This record gives sequence, C-alpha cells and structure tokens, in this order.
Amino acid sequence: MKAAIYKRYGSPDELSIEDISAPVPKKGEVLVRVYASSVNRTDCGFLRGKPLIVRLFSGLRKPKSTILGCEFAGEIVEVEVGVTGFYVGDRVMGFKDDDYGFGGHAEYTAMSVEGMISHIPERFGYEEAAVGFEGAHYALHYIRAANISKDQTVLINGATGAIGSAGLQIIKHLGAKVTAVCAGAHVGLVKSLGADQVINYEETDFTELAEQFDVVFDSVGKSTFGRCKKILKEEGIYMSTELGPYSQNPFLALLTKFHGKRRVLFPIPENTKQDADYLASLMEKGVYKPVVDKSYQLDDIAEAFRYVETGMKIGNVVINVV
Ligand SMILES: NC(=O)c1ccc[n+]([C@@H]2O[C@H](COP(=O)([O-])OP(=O)(O)OC[C@H]3O[C@@H](n4cnc5c(N)ncnc54)[C@H](OP(=O)(O)O)[C@@H]3O)[C@@H](O)[C@H]2O)c1
Repeated sequence: MKAAIYKRYGSPDELSIEDISAPVPKKGEVLVRVYASSVNRTDCGFLRGKPLIVRLFSGLRKPKSTILGCEFAGEIVEVEVGVTGFYVGDRVMGFKDDDYGFGGHAEYTAMSVEGMISHIPERFGYEEAAVGFEGAHYALHYIRAANISKDQTVLINGATGAIGSAGLQIIKHLGAKVTAVCAGAHVGLVKSLGADQVINYEETDFTELAEQFDVVFDSVGKSTFGRCKKILKEEGIYMSTELGPYSQNPFLALLTKFHGKRRVLFPIPENTKQDADYLASLMEKGVYKPVVDKSYQLDDIAEAFRYVETGMKIGNVVINVV
C-alpha cells in the first residue's frame, strides 16, 4: 500500500511516500480502506517528537511506528473474528492515538472495534468524517471535566481551531452561553457555529473584559490562569489545552484542587467507543459539523504539515488518500 512514512523525528521534510505492506488485522479488528485522513496538531507533535514527553509513548530516540494520521474515514474491507456490529462495506470513521499506532496516512489501516470507531452518519462524506473526532474528542473531555451545563457562561479562546470549533458547537448544544474569541476575519464563522458573543482579539484583550465567566476554556493554550483569574467567577474553572509557558498547568490543577476557590483543570483524555458513537450521533442530529479548512492529496502531505504547524489553520485539514 501507499503510505506517508517518517523514520526520524523532525520537520515535515522527514516524510516520504513509500510502498509498504498493508497491516494485517488481528482478532477483534477490522481492516479499513482509508479514503481520507487529516493532519492535526497531535500528528505534528508526534512528527517532531515534541514536547519531549510525547517520546515516552512514541519512542525515545526514533518513532516506534512510522505512519502518522490519528484520524481516518474509509470503508471496511476485512473483518476478523471477534468483531461484532461492523461488516465489510461499512463506512466508518475512527481516531486512535492511545496505543500510538496512528496509521491514517496510508491506504489501509487496522483498528480494534473496541476503540474510537463508529459508522459515518449518512449525510457526511469521507472528507468531513475524517476530521470528526480529533478536535471534538479533546473538547469533549474538557467539557466533561468542567461539567459544563445549561445556563453556565463559558468563554472559549481559539474558537476557530479544531478543538475550539467542535467545543463551541457541543457546549451550545448543552445549553451554556458562549463568548468566543477569534481574529476579526473569523467572527462570521464563529457566529455561524453558535457563539452568543464574539470577541475579536485583534481589538480587545479578553482577559480585560468586565464580565466574569463560570468557565474559561483556552482551546489554543495562549493564555495563563494568572491572567484569566479576574474574568473567572468566584468558583470559576480555567482550562487550557497547552501545558502553559512554564509547564505549570498540570501543577496548578493539583494545587487549586486543595487551595483557593477558582480551579484549574488539566484532564487527560481517554479514547472510548462510547464517545465515538456519541460524537457520530451529534453529527447525525446536525448538532456538530466538523469545520474543514483545506484538503491535500497524500502526495502533498508535507505541505499540509507545514500549514498546520503555523498554528493558524481554521478547524481541520483533510488528507485525501485515494
Ligand atoms: N491537551 C491535549 O490533549 C491536546 C490535544 C491536541 C492538541 N492540543 C493542543 O491544543 C491546541 C489547539 O489545537 P487545535 O488543533 O484545536 O488548534 P489549531 O486548529 O491549530 O488552532 C488554530 C487556530 O488558533 C487560532 N489562534 C491562533 N492564535 C491565536 C491567539 N493568539 N488567540 C486566539 N486564537 C488564536 C487561529 O484562529 P484565528 O485566526 O481566529 O486566531 C486558528 O484558527 C494546540 O496548541 C495543540 O497543541 C492539546
């Protein structure tokens, strides 16, 4: 099969397109013909092997697995013993980053049906389905950790990113009131995703707002708890998807659990089949629609990585594997 391979940590120049053997599915797994995948920030971290903590999972000196692409959408071409609920010909979407066997940047990938795999809702094509899980899955874990619910007020910084754009749609579905922060050019997009109020960060520093929120969710990790304290209600929650400039967020999560009223949360996501089915059901109901920025062919994957590494993609970047 054709696949994008990397054998050393480094820049997108390390990627090459090669012909290699297709994976052989094991008991409880399906083999999927991949039609579309994505390049996301998780893939970028594993390509560079940065932050260094990533290497505890991916291999200390060089990558243990050579194919990135933690999201995919395609058609099942083989079903192994022990699989129930999935059949040859089914259209499926999946996400896998837990056992570091990504595999979406190839024509075939094998996956356990106990992981984050679900049927693609009828109204979605492979491109949109391929980017349905990464951002939404991380967003969901933060939303659950903070127990975001009806009538709460939530500020989302980076509402145009993969995590932010998915999180905004899910939080609105839960009935909370959302103030979204983005660049001026994307105010229209963010309003169309359901934001009640939009702050253009080029004009207004959201940390100086007079309003206070139940939750500040920095989905692009550009702020700090210290700067956001004054816009948090007395028992408000601050969450960031990044470690913070001094890697302080996991420590603050521990500290604020026992000290002070305002809390920092830094949840560790878990991949479950239930979440895959839940997110697919939100897509089916029209509650959540993944935002697609650009699409690239597999041959141009290095270019896609360079774009995603700018940190300025809007929603998601698709890789067509056909
Ligand atoms: N903790 C975890 O488990 C986990 C997992 C995956 C990723 N991450 C991290 O989460 C972050 C977000 O990932 P993502 O894929 O959702 O992001 P992304 O799609 O790369 O985010 C890009 C967006 O960020 C916005 N942005 C850039 N600078 C900004 C600023 N100063 N203020 C506000 N918005 C800004 C840009 O929109 P505008 O043009 O509108 O500014 C752009 O749409 C990354 O830092 C990634 O490393 C964490």
